[in-house]
Amino acid sequence: MNIGVQTNDLTEVIESDRAHLWHHLMQHKPLETTDPRVIVQGKGMRVWDATGKEHLDAVSGAVWTVNVGYGRESIARAVYDQLVQMNYFAQSAGSIPGSNFARKLISKMPGLSRVYYANSGSEANEKVFKMVRQIGHRHHGGKKTRILYRERDYHGTTITCLSAGGQPERNAMYGPFTPGFIEVPHCLEYRKQWDVEDYGRRAADAIEEVILREGPDEIGLLCLEPVTAGGGVITPPEGYWDRVQEICKKYEILLHIDEVVCGVGRTGTWFGYQNYGVQPDFVTMAKGVASGYAAISCMVTTEAVFEQFKDAPEDKLSYFRDISTFGGCASGPAAALENMRIIEDEDLLTNTLKMGDRMMTNLHALMDRHRVIGDVRGKGLFCGAELVADRTSKEPAEEKKVQAVVADCMAQGVIIGATNRSLPGLNNTLCFSPALIATPDDIDQITDAVDKALTRVFS
Ligand SMILES: Cc1ncc(COP(=O)(O)O)c(C=O)c1O
Repeated sequence: MNIGVQTNDLTEVIESDRAHLWHHLMQHKPLETTDPRVIVQGKGMRVWDATGKEHLDAVSGAVWTVNVGYGRESIARAVYDQLVQMNYFAQSAGSIPGSNFARKLISKMPGLSRVYYANSGSEANEKVFKMVRQIGHRHHGGKKTRILYRERDYHGTTITCLSAGGQPERNAMYGPFTPGFIEVPHCLEYRKQWDVEDYGRRAADAIEEVILREGPDEIGLLCLEPVTAGGGVITPPEGYWDRVQEICKKYEILLHIDEVVCGVGRTGTWFGYQNYGVQPDFVTMAKGVASGYAAISCMVTTEAVFEQFKDAPEDKLSYFRDISTFGGCASGPAAALENMRIIEDEDLLTNTLKMGDRMMTNLHALMDRHRVIGDVRGKGLFCGAELVADRTSKEPAEEKKVQAVVADCMAQGVIIGATNRSLPGLNNTLCFSPALIATPDDIDQITDAVDKALTRVFS
């Protein structure tokens, strides 16, 4: 498809980029001799760069965000109309789209009832950590302020979110960290830590062991991704979530599910946790909430949690003394409402399930052809293929070869991802998270590119 991308006057853009921009998550030395990649246009599943080259985007804006695809005029219009009417007022006051989106969101989240707006996934997670600390101080005599997080999970970029981060390469050199965060083991069965039949239950029992070691009275929160994303696309083993829920109830530990990646359709349900019949106390979400058309994140919780912040109006410190300035930008909920309408009207959850099945079938077929694929995992349109040098020993494939596969796909015009600066020696999982509008042809084009890339890189 040629959509008439203008590329003839971008020399200045490239020069300014090289002179002044500090890009996220990348080494800059190579940019002294090569041009930075500048993405100038997007439509549907495809983006065009400054050279005019077309790419099929299999990772929704590189970090699993543009769930309803590029170039959605109806979202742009909803944002425009809202900005002209009322762009901003601090969330100490309400807004029309803020109220309407909260009602719509809560209709998809039985058992939860309160929405707190912020701007990024990290920030939404910090709200939960602050609330748990405040509940501990006000209602448990300073106990129950410690927070459990899981090895290989990621919850954001701030120092406190990194303190809850289970990815050593992401954390290295950013300490000292916030105290009171404790790690529990990951649940990836492919890299098993216990030789047992009922792996899901055993992996969850490991959380209980940590709770007993640290003292149940000290622990206020367990924070988990429903499917671990950047830590290796880890789908939970059978029985894991049932046991997690049981443990949280037993020790009165609040359960926080970080849906920043899985939220709003990515796994074929509105939220990842809804695949596993679990009932959280807190849910955070960001990326797919408005598909990147506006910056919005949400922290959603129960009436029971909310009540703990309004029980003593005479105490001037009893309420949640927190603000996110840009949580009051009305563009966020305006975009989020339209984003959700699109998912419903175009039945994108059903498409996600169908296309997710197709992606998994194709990846399993690639596994039959390429011994370097050791494991294939996924839920809906969030899928991964772990590359190994040897299937028996499961020795991870060399990171530079994994990156060569990504680069080869890019050269073919298909943007895929790979785990990156997460775990030492284990940045070896290819990641696929196309927009929820993907067609069978798109899915086949993605896996065909991977097929060719694996053949070239590993033969
Ligand atoms: C699971 C998860 N939680 C939180 C975050 C942080 O979100 P943000 O970058 O919007 O702060 C991310 C970002 O990738 C994530 O993957």
